[in-house]
Amino acid sequence: MADKQHFYRQEWKPVRGLPMIYAFSENWERIDNFQARPDDIVIATYPKAGTTWMCEIVDMIIYAGDDDQCKRDFIFKKAPMLEFSAPSVMEPGTEMLQRTPSPRVVKTHLPVALLPKSFWEKKSKVVYVARNAKDLAVSYYHFDRMNKLHPEPGTWAEYLEKFMAGNVGFGSWYDHVNDWWKKKEDHPVLFIFYEDMKEDPKREIRKVVQFLEKDLGEDVLEKIVTQTSFDVMKDNPLTNYTTDNAPFFQTTISAFMRKGIAGDWKNHFTVAQNERFDEDYGRKMKGSPLHFRTEL
Ligand code: PPS
Repeated sequence: MADKQHFYRQEWKPVRGLPMIYAFSENWERIDNFQARPDDIVIATYPKAGTTWMCEIVDMIIYAGDDDQCKRDFIFKKAPMLEFSAPSVMEPGTEMLQRTPSPRVVKTHLPVALLPKSFWEKKSKVVYVARNAKDLAVSYYHFDRMNKLHPEPGTWAEYLEKFMAGNVGFGSWYDHVNDWWKKKEDHPVLFIFYEDMKEDPKREIRKVVQFLEKDLGEDVLEKIVTQTSFDVMKDNPLTNYTTDNAPFFQTTISAFMRKGIAGDWKNHFTVAQNERFDEDYGRKMKGSPLHFRTEL
């Protein structure tokens, strides 16, 4: 069995040109050959866009807010991450998913081009969560600092350059959001914005309920809003990813549930960095129908 130190703090390893987490990159056939089920619910995101939040919401919708069901396990077991692999540390996502009863909630950060084709064939529903690039870059920077499965991010200034160049895990944010937005044209994809969830969680949760063709009462909706609020999820050991259950997370460096707000980028970007980022963003997103809010 591989020694876990072997893949700690390694550089990204390309998978079909996409910078991938080194530990995940081996034996990629397990991803290509993964068998989807028609009632799978895929939560697809670029990292740090609100994946954990949406996974908990969808799990609560499936079980109509029932306490015993919803508190049955850790979020990373209730919604296994498809591409996750860290031999000798934790079971791979593909294996966890194979023995998960339907309906499965499948977490993934894969771009459209790398999602196993079985999901397209089975027409599994996808909920895509997108978050504005500035807050996302800040969140990702702090995540790289604390996650030993990723390379060290360097200084914030260095990291921001890598982010703009797409030289970070799962590649270009710009391509990821645009490709998933386009995918709505020929696949059942519900596109949700993190900032909209912050602004009015009940309104956005209702959209997910409708998309999943469920019928929930107002009291259940209220319960889901409360139980999935940042403060509750931050205090919930089943959702807050402490070092005890994710040994590669160094939560003394930065918590997984860090701030959970829109607009934290203002505490990180210098005026010059912001100008440079905006100028580069304008070029990369030229012609894109996507509009993100960077503050509420
Ligand atoms: S991961 O590692 O890619 O799966 O991370 P992900 O869950 O996508 O994103 C983590 C960021 O989402 C914030 N978060 C929340 N915000 C608001 N409400 C709730 N309930 C919530 N849960 C998680 C989390 O704090 C991370 O953002 P930052 O900006 O770093 O705080």
